[in-house]
Amino acid sequence: MVVFLDSGIGGLPYCDRFLALAPSCPAAYFADRAAFPYGSKTREELAALLVSRAALLLKRFPAVRVMALACNTASVSALDELRAAFPVPAFVGTVPAVKPALLAGGAAGAAGVVGVLGTERTIADPYLDALASRYGQGRPLVKRAAPELVTFVERELESAGTQERLLRAASYVQWFREQGVSGIVLGCTHFLFLLKEFREAAAPDITVYDSVDGVARRVLSLVHAEKPGGEPDTTNAADIAAGAATTAAPRILLLSGKEPPDAAWRNRARERGMELRLAGEQE
Ligand code: DGL
Repeated sequence: MVVFLDSGIGGLPYCDRFLALAPSCPAAYFADRAAFPYGSKTREELAALLVSRAALLLKRFPAVRVMALACNTASVSALDELRAAFPVPAFVGTVPAVKPALLAGGAAGAAGVVGVLGTERTIADPYLDALASRYGQGRPLVKRAAPELVTFVERELESAGTQERLLRAASYVQWFREQGVSGIVLGCTHFLFLLKEFREAAAPDITVYDSVDGVARRVLSLVHAEKPGGEPDTTNAADIAAGAATTAAPRILLLSGKEPPDAAWRNRARERGMELRLAGEQE
């Protein structure tokens, strides 16, 4: 079983992409809405929180073999602690796609300046600067924290119109353009919900990078490594692509917090054929 984890809806595109690749794999998605947002917490707070959340998830789903932190903030803050605390499952982190962006340099080619948009915690983490000095040939990253965009995506996206979504994305792109960047890395999984809008506002002079495919494929490779035959699990791919819920594998959407799921969470579960559960008293 694979579990995806985020502070809210941010990891859903990652879980969706993985399930499109491996539709028969048992999977759960944990949305830690009780601790949302992660980005305003310290590294120490997040490390302790994530270790306790992983313990909860392992108790709840003893069969979990791969846990994907579909959250940049959790990954840069707690991946080492989680790996040290639990020999199983394998943990997959999500880190901003800074390396590919620096190597490609965006629309300006290999000398281009790269911008990163993330949470306060991710933007402050020395990990980003370490990547910049390793792959950036002395070019510093242009970094911007956007906690207000995380909240917008988590709480207002579904009621926002097309125009508002585009304007939101365009205002960040404009700021980065003024800083002279030729590539923007979406360094928070929540921002994937605005990928289309970011790309539209950034074209043609700025390239937008994300990590969805890389993470989904990394999880898939670990799942295959677990299976005796190691063969790709694509049995129901055509059905799923056609929108038919034919898989019998468990699909669980687990929420932290005690309040009943609102209509938005019920819809998200229904759309994905997931059973909605509350983590409840085990937190
Ligand atoms: N989705 C998370 C990330 O990728 C963080 C959002 C939050 O601040 O809770 O960083």
